[in-house]
Amino acid sequence: MLWFNSLLLITAAFAANDVVCSPAQVPLQVKSLKPKQLHGRFLHITDMHPDPYYRPQTSQSRACHRKKPKNKRKESKYYGTPYSKCDSPFRLTNHTLDFLKENWANEIDFVIWTGDNARHDNDRKLPRTPSEIFELNRAVASEMQKVFSSRGIPVVPSLGNNDVWPHNILSPGPNSITNEFASIWGAFIPFPYLQVFQRGAYYTVEVIPDEVAVVSLNTMYFYDSNKVVAGCPFKEPNDPGNLQIDWLEVQLEEYRSRGMQVWISGHVPPSPGNYFPECYVRYVELALRFQDTILGHLYGHMNVDHFFFLESGDLNIYPKADSEVRKDEAPTPANEGGLYKTLMKEFSALPKSPKMTDYAVVNVAPAVVPNPYLPAFRIFSYNITNSRGDYRLATSKRKHGHPRGDKGNKTVHCKTEEYQDTWRCHLDQPWFSDPDSPSRSNKQWSPLGYAQYYIPELGKANETHPPNFELEYLTYQVESLHPRDTEQEFVYPVPVRHLPQDLREPGLKKSKYCPYRMEDLTIPSWIRLARQLTKEKRRKLRKKFRRYMFVGGEEE
Ligand SMILES: *[C@@H]1O[C@H](CO)[C@@H](O)[C@H](O)[C@H]1NC(C)=O
Ligand SMILES: *[C@@H]1O[C@H](CO)[C@@H](O)[C@H](O)[C@H]1NC(C)=O
Ligand SMILES: *[C@@H]1O[C@H](CO)[C@@H](O)[C@H](O)[C@H]1NC(C)=O
Ligand SMILES: *[C@@H]1O[C@H](CO)[C@@H](O)[C@H](O)[C@H]1NC(C)=O
Repeated sequence: MLWFNSLLLITAAFAANDVVCSPAQVPLQVKSLKPKQLHGRFLHITDMHPDPYYRPQTSQSRACHRKKPKNKRKESKYYGTPYSKCDSPFRLTNHTLDFLKENWANEIDFVIWTGDNARHDNDRKLPRTPSEIFELNRAVASEMQKVFSSRGIPVVPSLGNNDVWPHNILSPGPNSITNEFASIWGAFIPFPYLQVFQRGAYYTVEVIPDEVAVVSLNTMYFYDSNKVVAGCPFKEPNDPGNLQIDWLEVQLEEYRSRGMQVWISGHVPPSPGNYFPECYVRYVELALRFQDTILGHLYGHMNVDHFFFLESGDLNIYPKADSEVRKDEAPTPANEGGLYKTLMKEFSALPKSPKMTDYAVVNVAPAVVPNPYLPAFRIFSYNITNSRGDYRLATSKRKHGHPRGDKGNKTVHCKTEEYQDTWRCHLDQPWFSDPDSPSRSNKQWSPLGYAQYYIPELGKANETHPPNFELEYLTYQVESLHPRDTEQEFVYPVPVRHLPQDLREPGLKKSKYCPYRMEDLTIPSWIRLARQLTKEKRRKLRKKFRRYMFVGGEEE
């Protein structure tokens, strides 16, 4: 199908600015009528962590920077040290981007890139500095620009907790960090968002103009390790977390009114373990309120492949006496017992027939840095069936939200001191839900699945034998890898040449690469997978899920 890349021209104009120093004036009205073919795929890449001090054959306990260890097994490897505490050699991040350039740059429509592009070791002999962090970010950004932006592929970066100095700390903007990133990402941030970016380091990009946008959030203002912000308190409207959520609300309203669909992306995933409680409540509320507009939530930071749900129950009011009970009932990521156990408990607690309106799904991708597992990236596919009118038409007759379901006893508890000034007692907008929206039923722009590639033999790569990315797994049903040419849009979710040999021929009914057998990545499909994972009989599936989380290594 065809679309028009007016936005990309703006991006290109920015890129050109860097080089030829033409005036900063950007002609926003410029429109190119050059049609562009959509591939129905995008890349999610995260947590590269290049380290200029990385040296092969040094000690892992010295951050792979120096000293030959006595034990050969503790020695750093040529292309990066798997299952270690070390960051990535440039050799690995370069190899990864070269691989993407050679193999994927002509197969995708946009790139979601969720942060952490500086080393994050704690080598006391080589403390991190702001200028080093900026330089590393500039190096990776310039490669991303060369590989993707230069071909007209929009790249949407977001800020990681190690892209700031000190780690985790970012004060309200404008400040030297937001200003520096406005410059480093000049080629990626659409001009109209530059001013907002300098204030808050968030922005959006219409990756498919008038159709699909990617919002890049600055999760540093939600992250509870950031001790210089207040964490979205109801009584502080100027807290940067509150300002960001207000801004997000306006973006979502606007995209919704235009009948567009939106991916939300950022570095630190929205979980009760990561976010300030009040920021979390506001995030969940927006995720559920705009469920007919949001395609999904894509994050990094955890370096662990997993997914989890945002639930309407998170917005309920639990009086103090009950709050302990609540914790047991609905454990959340980062709880005791480890992430795997927590997720299994959470999935087991899903009701028998969950109300789809009560859930949103967060997908967390594994990192490029082999700390503590193996380098990986994801290629998502999405539905590009040319049925543009269908869902937009539905927009006009869309129900204008539901009053939400049982929500604790607001009447009583919101009068108490404990609750009266919390967001839970002040969020009562109607929700926009629709079983026909692309997040709930497969249609144009719905996510269909992803292929995850990794480097299982990273430790063996050397001067003469560079590492190989291999397919780790697919969410798809094996049959859907070979669509029949009678189907409406004849699109391979994964280009056949990027499949392992035994998947290249049609006709297979089962494959070790396809344990999830998901029809698509809509919310009902994720709920189905979560329920399968907790079934007594599905031990093998659970084992696979756990294996993908920790890639054969130990849970950290
Ligand atoms: C990585 O790529 C950059 C940009 O092409 C280059 O300057 C640098 O030397 C490369 N480093 C390594 C270790 O390959
Ligand atoms: C909440 O409390 C009020 C006042 O006690 C009561 O009238 C109402 O029925 C309660 N609502 C729920 C849902 O329990
Ligand atoms: C895309 O959505 C259409 C409905 O609009 C559906 O008929 C088609 O099967 C979907 N394509 C894929 C590849 O799932
Ligand atoms: C590099 O790795 C290959 C394959 O594992 C091995 O055959 C070769 O001897 C190694 N070369 C060096 C210089 O270690």
